[in-house]
Amino acid sequence: MKQAMPVKEQQLGPNLTFYDLHPPTTDMLAEVSQSLSAPRPHLNPKYFYDEAGSRLFDAITATEEYYPTRTEAALLEQFSGEIQHKLGPTVTIAEPGAGSCQKVRLLLERWSPQRYMPLEISRDCLLTATRQLSRDFPDVQISAVCADYCQALSLPGDSQPGGQVVFFPGSTIGNFEPAERQQFLRGLHHLAGPGGALLIGADLQKDHSRLNAAYNDAQGLTAAFNLNALHHLNQALDCHFDVDNMRHLAFYNDTAQRIEMHLECLQDQQLQLGDTLLTLKSGTRIHTENSYKFTVEGFSRELVDAGFTPRGCWTDTDNLFSLHLASTD
Ligand code: AVI
Repeated sequence: MKQAMPVKEQQLGPNLTFYDLHPPTTDMLAEVSQSLSAPRPHLNPKYFYDEAGSRLFDAITATEEYYPTRTEAALLEQFSGEIQHKLGPTVTIAEPGAGSCQKVRLLLERWSPQRYMPLEISRDCLLTATRQLSRDFPDVQISAVCADYCQALSLPGDSQPGGQVVFFPGSTIGNFEPAERQQFLRGLHHLAGPGGALLIGADLQKDHSRLNAAYNDAQGLTAAFNLNALHHLNQALDCHFDVDNMRHLAFYNDTAQRIEMHLECLQDQQLQLGDTLLTLKSGTRIHTENSYKFTVEGFSRELVDAGFTPRGCWTDTDNLFSLHLASTD
């Protein structure tokens, strides 16, 4: 790996190297206090993902209503050969925010790259996932990088012939605001490097009832996932959210072309944020997530604006989800 900053490197197995970029820790109390006392209270969606939240998210992806994960998996299954044909031999697959490294398995099986470079902020998650992966794919060199998104995107691309394919599945791109999305796509362009490519999933605009159902599943898992952010804050900051008196709201905002998730206070409540008390009035809504939905043409334009050349786009027959391939030059 080219090193843009001092990194601790450890050889954890014959085909597993761990690079620790020491992701900066944020001041959670300051960040949460500021966002909750803003004129429009909000929370960063990263607070969904403690251990319980990650388990809930996995459960959501298996619900009948939440189509993105299984639709994208089917697209990868069906078109990985065609995509590989367009790409030529792939030397390295890099995956920012790789999590449990599940989705890439199909590409490792089918494409047999020399190297896989997952970038993930959670050290434990990264180590657990890559230890297993290195056993399952002994012929792939795994460079596990513990880093946050910003650090990951400042890593230079690997300009070996064949290039580096950046894999960013799941329509996580839809969780970025438009301006940061453009900046993030430019970062992915930098990470892919000369001769590189991006394979990215983008959820599509569709019938509103289908979208609303995907974020209001009948089992209440999305509600539990949303509310879990408050349990997480209670645990980390001891801030006394009365979670039983908050309710989950998720709806499609047609003007902004996004699903919005909020948590609404059902009664006045008082939070303890360090030495400060903050009152949330009944009816106050805390905005917890946006999930933008795209058109194929609109998303292709965004790729072009970020410096990519679109090379292909695959969608399912119901036009629920899209997979885009774009090259850096
Ligand atoms: C991670 N991300 C792509 C999911 C989404 O659909 O925006 C997060 C999620 N929120 C509620 N359900 C799933």
